[in-house]
Amino acid sequence: MSTKCLIVSLVLLLFRTSSGQQCRALSFQRLCVTDGSNVVLENERLSMTINKAKGQITALYFNSRVDSSIKSTNLLRGGSGYYLANINVNGKSSAVGPNVGNMKITQSAEFIDLAFTNQDTSTWPINFEFHLVLQKNSSIFYYYSIHKYLKDGYTAEQLRWAIRAPANIFKYYNVDGRRAGTMPTQSDIDSAEVLQDWTYKFKDGSVYSKYQQISSNENINTVFGIYGDRIGLSLLQTHKEWLSGGPFKQDLTTHTGQMLLFHEHSGHYGTPELVPTSGWTKVYGPIGFYLNDGQSPSEMYSDAQRQLSDEEKKWPYQFVTAPEYNAQGRGSVSGVLTVDGSPNDDWVWLTLTEPNVNNPQLESATYMYSAVAGKNGDFKIPAVRPGTYKLHVIAKGVVGEYIQNNIRVQQKQNNNLGTINWKQESHGKLLWQIGVPDRNSAEFRLPAGFPSPIPNLAEYRKFGTWLSYSKAFPNDPDFTVGSSDPAKHWCYFMPMIKTPGSPAQLKLVNVTQNVQPTNWKVRFDYSGSTTGTATLTLGLAANVKAGIRALINGNEILKVNNFDGPQGDSALFRQASHGIYRQQSMTFSQSLLKAKNILEFTPPGAVSQNHFDKMVMWDFLRLEVSN
Ligand SMILES: *[C@@H]1O[C@H](CO)[C@@H](O)[C@H](O)[C@H]1NC(C)=O
Ligand SMILES: *[C@@H]1O[C@H](CO)[C@@H](O)[C@H](O)[C@H]1NC(C)=O
Repeated sequence: MSTKCLIVSLVLLLFRTSSGQQCRALSFQRLCVTDGSNVVLENERLSMTINKAKGQITALYFNSRVDSSIKSTNLLRGGSGYYLANINVNGKSSAVGPNVGNMKITQSAEFIDLAFTNQDTSTWPINFEFHLVLQKNSSIFYYYSIHKYLKDGYTAEQLRWAIRAPANIFKYYNVDGRRAGTMPTQSDIDSAEVLQDWTYKFKDGSVYSKYQQISSNENINTVFGIYGDRIGLSLLQTHKEWLSGGPFKQDLTTHTGQMLLFHEHSGHYGTPELVPTSGWTKVYGPIGFYLNDGQSPSEMYSDAQRQLSDEEKKWPYQFVTAPEYNAQGRGSVSGVLTVDGSPNDDWVWLTLTEPNVNNPQLESATYMYSAVAGKNGDFKIPAVRPGTYKLHVIAKGVVGEYIQNNIRVQQKQNNNLGTINWKQESHGKLLWQIGVPDRNSAEFRLPAGFPSPIPNLAEYRKFGTWLSYSKAFPNDPDFTVGSSDPAKHWCYFMPMIKTPGSPAQLKLVNVTQNVQPTNWKVRFDYSGSTTGTATLTLGLAANVKAGIRALINGNEILKVNNFDGPQGDSALFRQASHGIYRQQSMTFSQSLLKAKNILEFTPPGAVSQNHFDKMVMWDFLRLEVSN
């Protein structure tokens, strides 16, 4: 290369990477940023305008190859991309957003990272910054944030980055490939009857709730989005190490108002508040917002899933330079997990937590790293920050949890744990089991709910399954081991009174309130020893302000007035088949067993009409004897 040519190249390089360089708006020529009162960030594929005072994206353009009119359409017209936090400061709750006014640009030939820092810590007492990152010739813009403890007295209920898009462009949504369709419109909502908060009965009798669009974060639903006829905006989550509540956490995805939501933290389904303590810091994300075009929403959704698998290979993203993220130094943990000597027949989830975390479901402050074991039991938990961890393992069909302490992860090293053999919890000989331990109630009978405009909805995601409990089980479940079918004869939840639901809701289905306590029965024959100890184990998939009492042949063997932990996870009324999982074992003398037995479940005490929402949700029940 001649000297002259080299100088020209260097000048070009500076030109391209200079932060003062003006983006020629909507030229879609190169990666560039213009810093004024509004910031313009652009590359070959997309262009966005950000209001610097509030840190909100106010305009978004996509250089579509399918439909040239998209190029000149502000895809966020009338809406925006914004941060919103529901917080408590010394007991006073408020909704706040960042007050930015200041921005830091990090720029290379490959990417531009804009960091927006909250300036007003008097109303939002946390050190908070969020980043928007654009790489050259990419149609993904990444979002991530860094929170750092500032002072005590601050807790957070919900932290989210949201996109509100125009309804006339993004008419469709896709939650998981099956729950996909046309979003109910604002006029549908305005003319609907409100049955519950965020729950609307439309003129055609169908009932819509935004909770019908929740995702269970178990390895599905990592892509969801809003779509137009030829344009898609999908949210890609490659890893979820920041998630409060662990790998089974459920949260909102998209909903009416053309919302696309990234929850950094939320209290939905029983997750405790985030309580930062001295020294706390956490990086949420990065997640990607992927713009694409195509001939149909389903084609664009499939393309977004393909893009997600490309993104997974990039984790941890090297463009995040914050030391807290530690993009360069991460290690991993691998091994083989067997249950009683063999690979488990169904899923096995392995989660690494901080050493002091006893229950990942109730953890909001720290990172958790998860993986699912392969068919042979082999697993690898990738991209773990160096440190010492506790391993928690749960598996479908297996009662309890396996714990291993002192798992060391060193910089850039894999820690191979070898073969871990989990000896399943056992209390002797299994007499019977109803349901499968998987922290989920969906295998039991689901009384009919109202139809919904969301297609392919599991019955438990429909509004009002609880209202038809008394129609499905007028005399409560009476289950005979050996002949009854869990899918038909055992309800997925147990209410405390015969007609769960508020009086106003019961009118919707013409049910007259009956506040008698429920009384559930399991009948079983027994011909074994009457010396020794029997153990009844209950797996409860959710709980709303309820307790439980159990009797064997009229003898009380268990009475729980209130379970520990969150008193209500709202799983039933938020149309889910699981919330906070609990396991409860009790032992009793085998001398209480006879040839013909009745095990009964009732509320733990007197009930009243105020108990219309109290219930437990079942995962499984099993009875074992030691002799
Ligand atoms: C941008 O990426 C596309 C593929 O998405 C490729 O066809 C094109 O050549 C790239 N353009 C530049 C300038 O790198
Ligand atoms: C309830 O009763 C009313 C009046 O008899 C009837 O029109 C309606 O269809 C009933 N609804 C249900 C869900 O049974």
